[in-house]
Amino acid sequence: MIGRAYLIGAGPGDPELLTLKAARIIATADVVLFDNLVGPEVLTFARSDAQMINVGKRCGRHSTEQAAINRLIRIYARAGRCVVRLKGGDPFVFGRGGEELQSLREAGVPVEVVPGITTALAVGAQLQVPLTHRGVSRSLHLLTAHDHQDGLPEYDWAALARGGTLAVYMGIRTLRLLTARLLEAGMKPSTPAVAVQSVTLPQESCVYGTLADLADQVARLGGAGPTMVLIGEVVAMGAITV
Ligand SMILES: C[S@@+](CC[C@H](N)C(=O)[O-])C[C@H]1O[C@@H](n2cnc3c(N)ncnc32)[C@H](O)[C@@H]1O
Repeated sequence: MIGRAYLIGAGPGDPELLTLKAARIIATADVVLFDNLVGPEVLTFARSDAQMINVGKRCGRHSTEQAAINRLIRIYARAGRCVVRLKGGDPFVFGRGGEELQSLREAGVPVEVVPGITTALAVGAQLQVPLTHRGVSRSLHLLTAHDHQDGLPEYDWAALARGGTLAVYMGIRTLRLLTARLLEAGMKPSTPAVAVQSVTLPQESCVYGTLADLADQVARLGGAGPTMVLIGEVVAMGAITV
């Protein structure tokens, strides 16, 4: 009999930010395939006899590796197992959940998606920065600063520079280029910005700056954890200003 697959968002790391539904399903899984971005404590929700498979590089996974993950999920599910594919944040926000979903649909494997708290929302909550705020920011843009060739993707920079809050995923390697593009497109150099590493985990750290100097400031973060960059006037409303 065919099993079932679940694409589950594990949130930013703090296990208390897992949904009740995610925790319940993880606890029933026969097989859990997880990324490095999944908080270590989240994995303790799994059964002690569940098969735990780390399939993760943190970002920039090569497409053949993704194909291998798709195949693994299909194989276990078709063998009748309850398979959880656990991903940091939300599976459908820069999580390649769409590709896994398509692969499972094509294979005729029943699949369910459980959302998770994406990093941008966790950063807003942790720093007490409202991502939208009346009179300050009327839009939130989730963007990646990393394309398939390890470069900066092309965007309508003028549109991004016009205002609103920018939440930048995978933004550290190309941060200098990204901030330069926004400055060239007319965004104010004094626009508040922050980089937050390992948000909601015990080792969380952040540096505040401006659009003009954030690329220099991030060196102060040290560490090697995943880092989100938030740019926009709302950042000045943050309660934590270290
Ligand atoms: C491949 S994307 C995955 C995003 C994830 N699906 C989500 O919804 O948050 C990886 C990027 O997410 C961000 N990220 C994920 N977890 C994070 C954390 N705990 N702290 C800061 N940034 C994080 C970083 O920008 C990292 O480079």
